[in-house]
Amino acid sequence: MNILVTGGAGFIGSNFIFYMLEKHPEYRILCLDALTYAGNLKTLEPVMDNDNFRFVKGDIRDREFIFNFFGKEDFDMVVNFAAESHVDRSIEDPGVFLETNIIGTQILMDACREYGIQRFHQVSTDEVYGDLPLDKPELMFTEDTPIKTSSPYSASKASADLLVEAYNRTFGLPVTISRCSNNYGPYQFPEKLIPLMISKALAEEELPVYGKGENVRDWLYVEDHCRAIDLILHKGKDGEVYNIGGHNERSNLEVVKTILVELDKPESLISFVEDRAGHDLRYAIDPTKISEELGWKPTILFDEGIKKTVKWYLDNKKWWENILSGDYQDYYQRMYKDEQVNS
Ligand code: NAD
Ligand code: TYD
Repeated sequence: MNILVTGGAGFIGSNFIFYMLEKHPEYRILCLDALTYAGNLKTLEPVMDNDNFRFVKGDIRDREFIFNFFGKEDFDMVVNFAAESHVDRSIEDPGVFLETNIIGTQILMDACREYGIQRFHQVSTDEVYGDLPLDKPELMFTEDTPIKTSSPYSASKASADLLVEAYNRTFGLPVTISRCSNNYGPYQFPEKLIPLMISKALAEEELPVYGKGENVRDWLYVEDHCRAIDLILHKGKDGEVYNIGGHNERSNLEVVKTILVELDKPESLISFVEDRAGHDLRYAIDPTKISEELGWKPTILFDEGIKKTVKWYLDNKKWWENILSGDYQDYYQRMYKDEQVNS
């Protein structure tokens, strides 16, 4: 089996590559990644010498390159992780989100049609469903929940999902889509909530919590997400959408306080800053379909996963400290300057 993994130098894609090379040592995996600010070749160092792994730098927005590339390779499946993935950046500059997340997906699917790929899997997000109220804990996203997006990021992911379904129905391209809740774990770029708060707490800097920290996310340890995608690739039905999540809802404030306890740092580091524009209140996944049809269940609950994650960031300081120098700093200055409204 030859699998193309796009965006594999990022957080979830790299974890997926590690998972697949271990689980299916006979598979060949090729990672295609443009190495944007979020892609990091250092992350892939542990597998660079594996004979069944190759890395190619390339942009999914480049139609000519992608067609030439597919012409030279012989893929059975394509798993598309490549995306602009940070909501705050999409509020700052939506354009590149539309180009990569929508047009890039279309170009990949056109190449899949041309070269007769057996399965195109789109890695999507629960954010395509919009948000749920805080006071109705019984409500959860199912695969039938209407698409209703809030941010340019989620709108771009939802647009891509609609295109994937259209390519399936109109052109018969074999596809599956997974919509997962918030991931956490090793190699997550330190602009996202959990690694950002870990790095800030270790530096004893203020931890910027948006609004009152009441917003709720449904956290999934990244390896559980990777296992779900592997199952969908092998057992998922053509044209189907699968929600992935493990009933691990936490408010942002709870998450930040848990990290502070793990690191033995004071809550006085928490700083409540101006809320994100259009900030989704709550995400919660109903995983009934994937558990009943494919037998998937999460194996790592939040209390265990957050301990493992904090330990990973403590043991791998060099990985994220390198990232924290350079361009990211400029972006960070723009995002948080003058933002503190209540400390
Ligand atoms: P990430 O930002 O860490 O990684 C994205 C990767 O895509 C990077 O390596 C980047 O270099 C690459 N990339 C970006 N633009 C590209 C382009 N034009 N061509 C080729 N490569 C390009 O993101 P992540 O958190 O690993 O998310 C991966 C996927 O999973 C995304 O599609 C995201 O929407 C989805 N997802 C993420 C989460 C989450 O909690 N992080 C949850 C559900 C779904
Ligand atoms: P994030 O990790 O950006 O993921 P998403 O927006 O895709 O859910 O943010 C998770 C939650 O944490 C979200 O409600 C926004 C909040 N948040 C903060 O309070 N402070 C921060 O500095 C960041 C990056 C996020």
